[in-house]
Amino acid sequence: MASQKEIQKDKNTRIIRVGKQKLDHKLIREAAALLRSGELIAFPTETVYGLGANGLREDAVRKIFAVKGRPPDNPLILHVGFKKDILLYGRNISPSVKKLIHAFWPGPLTIIVKKRTKIPDIVTAGLDTLALRMPANSVALALIRAARVPVAAPSANVSGKPSPTTASHVYQDLFGKVEIILDGGKTDVGIESTIIDCTVEPPAILRPGKITRRQIENTIGFVDNYLYNSNDTVDSVPKSPGLKYRHYAPDVQLILVEGDATAVKATIDALIRQYHSQNKRVGILAFFPGSRYTIGKQDTLVNLGLRKQSVSRRLFETLRYFDEQKVDVILAENFPSHDQAIMNRLRKAASEIIVAQA
Ligand code: TXA
Ligand code: MG
Repeated sequence: MASQKEIQKDKNTRIIRVGKQKLDHKLIREAAALLRSGELIAFPTETVYGLGANGLREDAVRKIFAVKGRPPDNPLILHVGFKKDILLYGRNISPSVKKLIHAFWPGPLTIIVKKRTKIPDIVTAGLDTLALRMPANSVALALIRAARVPVAAPSANVSGKPSPTTASHVYQDLFGKVEIILDGGKTDVGIESTIIDCTVEPPAILRPGKITRRQIENTIGFVDNYLYNSNDTVDSVPKSPGLKYRHYAPDVQLILVEGDATAVKATIDALIRQYHSQNKRVGILAFFPGSRYTIGKQDTLVNLGLRKQSVSRRLFETLRYFDEQKVDVILAENFPSHDQAIMNRLRKAASEIIVAQA
């Protein structure tokens, strides 16, 4: 039960365990003071871990880009502690935005609005729009509120790697680069927030997530859906600057096989034989039920099943697991329900997509 204690101390990075139910406010205040003074603090949200900086200080936000190796044209999400904060940092707040906040905040929905000038340009990579989100995680909210500043935070991974869903993922990527990692256990949702751009009419979904298009349309009516082409660009102008980069990628190459169940199996079987003939170790990411593949001891198979919630919760940790197992290639089935959020992450993690023919 002693859930709040320092479990590790290093030159720079401390992992501090904070219970989700009963928070140690003294530790949170310590982290919040550091955050406010310009240091980087990693913290859990309900989606993935974030790498936070004082969103009102350019020098602090600059560190995020340096530490992650993040391209400077990729803007950040500003995390707030209260719904009303959207009025402090955004302007031209429409009735639709208010409805979305009422329905989904705190929660995994990021809303893009026009930005106020008090937010330094580095946060939005020079855009005049700003992404805002109020996370549904008690540690995140306590941290942001204690810091008394909005918190600019991307996912707390090195740019291009799968987003972290545990404190130890953050540690693997950012050890020695952040002051404190607040450990709030494994995140619930497992994939990043849905992003909706409310500066265009109709509003447009830029990144699919747990909150679906249908849920959003039930709240504010028709929305556009930028379901991206392979470069995730629309008319070659990226609507969300981050979408043009490859993402979520394990170190090893991932081949995604799409199509119906039988065709996917046949194609993956053939690929397994081909890699085995080259003495290579394969990792298989499966969703269809049953043991469909003949693999050897040297191979690694993970079947995540068909439940959306548990698949999204385990997807990124599974990609990291294949890296740890040192397989030579990952062969992934498509997620059969064609869930947009999960397929989006799989496609972005893939180095190659094969459409299996029946
Ligand atoms: O669930 C999440 O959203 C997590 C947690 C930590 O909150 N954060 C997250 O941040 O996924 P990040 O930086 O990994 O992804 C933010 C995405 C990027 O693709 C970025 O380009 C887009 O949001 N974005 C940020 N500001 C934008 C803006 N003003 N206009 C369009 N896209 C924007
Ligand atoms: Mg990210």
